[in-house]
Amino acid sequence: MSHKNPSGTLQERLFTERADRRLFQEATDRGFDYLQTLEERPVVPTDTAIGNLAYFTGDLPEDGSAAREIIEVLDLYGAPTTVASNGGRYFGFVTGAALPAATAVSQLAAFWDQNAAMQVMSPLAAKLEQVSEHWLKQALGLPNSVVAGFVSGTSVANLCALAAARYRILHNMGWDIAANGLFGAPRIRVVCGDHVHASVQKALQILGFGTSMLERVPVDNQGRMIPGAIPPLDERTILLLQAGNVNSGAFDPFEEILPKAIPSGCWVHIDGAFGLWAAVSHRLSHLCKGMEAAHSWAVDGHKTLNTPYDSGVVLCADSEALTAAMRSSGAYLVQGTERDGMAYTPEMSRRARAIEFWASLKSLGRSGLDELVTTLHSHAVKLANELSQLPGIAILNDIHFNQILIAMPDDEATQQLMQHLQGSGECWAGGSSWFGRKVIRVSVCAWTTTSEDVDRTVAAFQKASHAVLQKQDKFGVKF
Ligand SMILES: Cc1ncc(COP(=O)(O)O)c(C=O)c1O
Repeated sequence: MSHKNPSGTLQERLFTERADRRLFQEATDRGFDYLQTLEERPVVPTDTAIGNLAYFTGDLPEDGSAAREIIEVLDLYGAPTTVASNGGRYFGFVTGAALPAATAVSQLAAFWDQNAAMQVMSPLAAKLEQVSEHWLKQALGLPNSVVAGFVSGTSVANLCALAAARYRILHNMGWDIAANGLFGAPRIRVVCGDHVHASVQKALQILGFGTSMLERVPVDNQGRMIPGAIPPLDERTILLLQAGNVNSGAFDPFEEILPKAIPSGCWVHIDGAFGLWAAVSHRLSHLCKGMEAAHSWAVDGHKTLNTPYDSGVVLCADSEALTAAMRSSGAYLVQGTERDGMAYTPEMSRRARAIEFWASLKSLGRSGLDELVTTLHSHAVKLANELSQLPGIAILNDIHFNQILIAMPDDEATQQLMQHLQGSGECWAGGSSWFGRKVIRVSVCAWTTTSEDVDRTVAAFQKASHAVLQKQDKFGVKF
């Protein structure tokens, strides 16, 4: 039903809606009810629910709708088509859930609608960015000189870090990238592992480095860069490492690579989208040992830390390089005394995403961070152990962190297993390829995953693999 404002202006209607406590209460209540039923919902939407999305199709309406009606239809047609990635049995991609405190404060912060571009626009956002930067360095064990930019995710964090690297290397060679651009600039070398993440390649492309110029280093059977195969490095080189291979979860051996790389004068960047958080776990911090000597790091809040989405951080030990790479000026801009978020990021106007980041760290504290990350790992280990007992199922990686690579004896069987599993609605995991072999990739990344979820997931795999094996009894497995 459209809302025509027969008796007033648009502004009057909007003020009336703003004054309607029950309107906002209703949105919260519906969201709250959703959360309480998350474990009973199918992990992925049914075809019928997806078909109902047709409701949203159509042209821009002439007249606006009442806020209450908007909430109702969104909940009616939208909620059933959500993917239950906030629950405990969604293992697709690398997808965290959201901590309750962070979800709650994101609602409060939505009322404030703060712009985190400059301190003058939101002293609160500036303060919470500053505090989060400090806490993050403490949690990850990074040097005090490191600065942080709060961005939408690791893809953008990688972009910012590589822009800083590009600035620093060219500046040291007497080339002003801001004034002269990249055409005619001295050539920069880029060295990366054979399993470099797609988002790093995208960042390099945006920054004017073609993928064909990458000097790729072979990796071992876990996807870790082989230190002895790294070509000679120099001050014209960016060396790209990773904390957490997106498939196997393996970490490049920082302790071996960095002491040799740093004296060469190259810039070392670590993509640690989900894996950098291993540093906060008493059981896993050894994986990150030596990473603090790098020049830049990229990490997500919305994966392992379980902040709501739209949360990544670029960390850079060369504050001048990052701020020079992100510099913008305008007569109307007002420099803050403490911190202007836009100095460290590509955007000017930005959501005050540090509010949720800060709330997440505050909600967990040091011990909670450790427990969260260590528990994700324990669940992954338990799940991998139990899956490996099932007939026809093999685990192809060591469980370094939270990633499990699962295969059946041939690609077709693995594909069928994945289809059965995805169709079950009981849990969800996606596919990938591992050294030419098709795999199902499980990522345990949500605080909501319980031991019971692990058991239910094993049962779902058992049922699915049984169906595949029955169909293909060429494997000679008896039940
Ligand atoms: C290793 C790695 N780097 C970068 C990214 C990209 O992060 P985002 O999706 O937050 O942009 C991912 C995403 O899974 C990742 O696993």
